[in-house]
Amino acid sequence: MSSLLQCLKLVVGLLLQFGGHHDSCVAEEAAFCTIWSWNYVNYTWPSDIDYHSTVRGNRYLPQNILLGGPRVYQDKVYVTMPKYRIGVPASLGFFPLVSLEKTNILITPFPSWEMNHQGECRNLQSVIATEIDRQGIMWVLDGHRSSNYINGIRCPAKMVLMDLNRRGAVIQVVTFPNEISLKDGGFLNDLVIDETDGTYVYITDNSAIDPGLVVYSYNQNRAWKLRDGSMFPQVSASGYVIDNGFRIDYLGTIDGLALSPFTDIAPRLLFYTPLTSNQLFCVTTDILKDQQLASNQTWRRYVKFVGEKQGSTDGMVMDNKGNLYYGLIPQSAVAKWNIFEPLKTAEIIHRNPKTMVWPDSFSMDLQGNLFLVTDHAHRFFVNNNTLLFTPDEIKFRIHVIHVGTRSYMYSFSENFQK
Ligand SMILES: *[C@@H]1O[C@H](CO)[C@@H](O)[C@H](O)[C@H]1NC(C)=O
Ligand SMILES: *[C@@H]1O[C@H](CO)[C@@H](O)[C@H](O)[C@H]1NC(C)=O
Ligand SMILES: *[C@@H]1O[C@H](CO)[C@@H](O)[C@H](O)[C@H]1NC(C)=O
Repeated sequence: MSSLLQCLKLVVGLLLQFGGHHDSCVAEEAAFCTIWSWNYVNYTWPSDIDYHSTVRGNRYLPQNILLGGPRVYQDKVYVTMPKYRIGVPASLGFFPLVSLEKTNILITPFPSWEMNHQGECRNLQSVIATEIDRQGIMWVLDGHRSSNYINGIRCPAKMVLMDLNRRGAVIQVVTFPNEISLKDGGFLNDLVIDETDGTYVYITDNSAIDPGLVVYSYNQNRAWKLRDGSMFPQVSASGYVIDNGFRIDYLGTIDGLALSPFTDIAPRLLFYTPLTSNQLFCVTTDILKDQQLASNQTWRRYVKFVGEKQGSTDGMVMDNKGNLYYGLIPQSAVAKWNIFEPLKTAEIIHRNPKTMVWPDSFSMDLQGNLFLVTDHAHRFFVNNNTLLFTPDEIKFRIHVIHVGTRSYMYSFSENFQK
């Protein structure tokens, strides 16, 4: 089937599912379709008075808000807005999955405005990633802790469990001490949930000072951190140009991670890669779960170098058939590799230097769709405000492709819902 035909078919499917127009899909040659896009983020405000007082107090600076981390559950798309800069009034929110609005759709803070008020440490401070388990519990990673206190965040990193079937009621808060993630300079960046042996969560700490892989045992309510040379940047992978001439010399530590599908026969594999690196690593989860091995560094022997990707990667995700989808930042592209095949069989499935600038976070729904946000993240890290004051330019896009599988959280034999 031609890619145009494939895209048309997807558009029809998505129209039925999500409603609205998708002109951009038809024009594109490859498989991802851009469904939602934003010039900047705005919210549904409690009242006009509230909006105006927030604007007057410099607490809403639209150009400073990055949109990331889309996760779909039932009729909502949940998104994150990490506080890389000042003027981000809410860090977690959602928009309706089905709506005719596709451009600059307003974000509703979740679970409430109150919970997004930074004032108290029990509220959300700066969220970058969430993951939703099979029961509808959202694991919210509130662990971006800038070392320059630009946003006045001084609270320890934490993970908040919210029940999406009860409007986000908080069911547990896990606070991480400094040994796990620095209150001043830690950056819990991404997570996967492993619902075996009483549930484990693996979290990357993209800190420049103390990078590592955090293992959290839900059963034991205990966390430990694994540190290794493989989690540091590969300097030779830096120095590339994207976004119409923007040179990236940044060196980023461990960031993207993905978990292999759930089977009864073998331990699962955790894949990870630093933000600046072509190198892909993996380790089996039985090693990660063994706190004894972690305590004396014996575990490091079990880290495997998988091979070289074509470039550096931010987010990645695996489906239940072992297909790893990952972004390639220098190529403004998405690649796919089936882990049961050699890495050299990996292929770029979509590339577009205009619409795929900084492929960030991936997720999957139950209907066989893969979601990706591309978000110009690099611009939010530099001290160049002129790059952000561009109200007419599309900065964030959520793309969708029908891949016909489920996420890594489901077993190999489970099919998507038609
Ligand atoms: C944000 O949305 C509100 C309505 O919720 C609107 O009144 C306001 O003008 C919008 N602000 C911007 C900058 O778009
Ligand atoms: C590290 O811990 C493991 C598990 O407790 C143990 O088998 C191993 O001998 C220890 N290694 C060292 C060098 O202490
Ligand atoms: C900011 O970036 C723009 C576009 O790349 C460039 O023209 C300008 O000189 C930069 N300003 C500073 C202060 O670096």
